Amino acid sequence: MHKNIQEILLSEEQIRNRIRELGVELLRDYGDKNPVFICILKGAVVFYADMIRAFDAHCEMEFMQISSYQGTQSTGSVMILQDVKQDLAGRHVVILEDILDTGRSLQAVCKYLEAKGVASLKICAFLDKPEGRAPGITLEADYVGFPIPNAFVVGYGLDYDEAYRNLPYLGILKPEAYAK
Ligand code: XMP
Ligand code: MG
Repeated sequence: MHKNIQEILLSEEQIRNRIRELGVELLRDYGDKNPVFICILKGAVVFYADMIRAFDAHCEMEFMQISSYQGTQSTGSVMILQDVKQDLAGRHVVILEDILDTGRSLQAVCKYLEAKGVASLKICAFLDKPEGRAPGITLEADYVGFPIPNAFVVGYGLDYDEAYRNLPYLGILKPEAYAK
């Protein structure tokens, strides 16, 4: 275990097993739809790579990167730093995200993608922090890997200041690891 990790919340094996189950769920719902799976960079990249390989049917890949506007967080504004490359009109789209917390960023992304005329839009989140939802946000994920308590987590794509994304498990940092 990494020296800065206090506790492993989800082991590699727990994650692997749940991904397999989610792959079956997505196959049941999208197996004949040639869905477009959108990876929200950077946090979802590890989850995404595992999920698409757990989906045993035709699908297409797209990538988006977004960033929250500093200072106007309450408005839920997000900047699109990288957009999808193909026309999504009439397509069945599934957003793959690392974690649903306040829900602000995904709410903005959904609004943005719906305006492109998609046939359907669903959210598959590796993690869900139900207690983190901002007031007034009713958005929920359609597929959730794991609900987790309101703690800051790293690993399996998630970072603290860009570090720890490559840990193969999900962990909680030691308090002293935040002091820089
Ligand atoms: P919302 O808009 O739902 O945004 O608040 C979710 C985004 O916030 C980041 N986030 C975290 N990143 N550990 C992280 O490494 C966490 O515990 C955590 N909680 C939220 C993440 O970028 C996610 O996409
Ligand atoms: Mg981050």
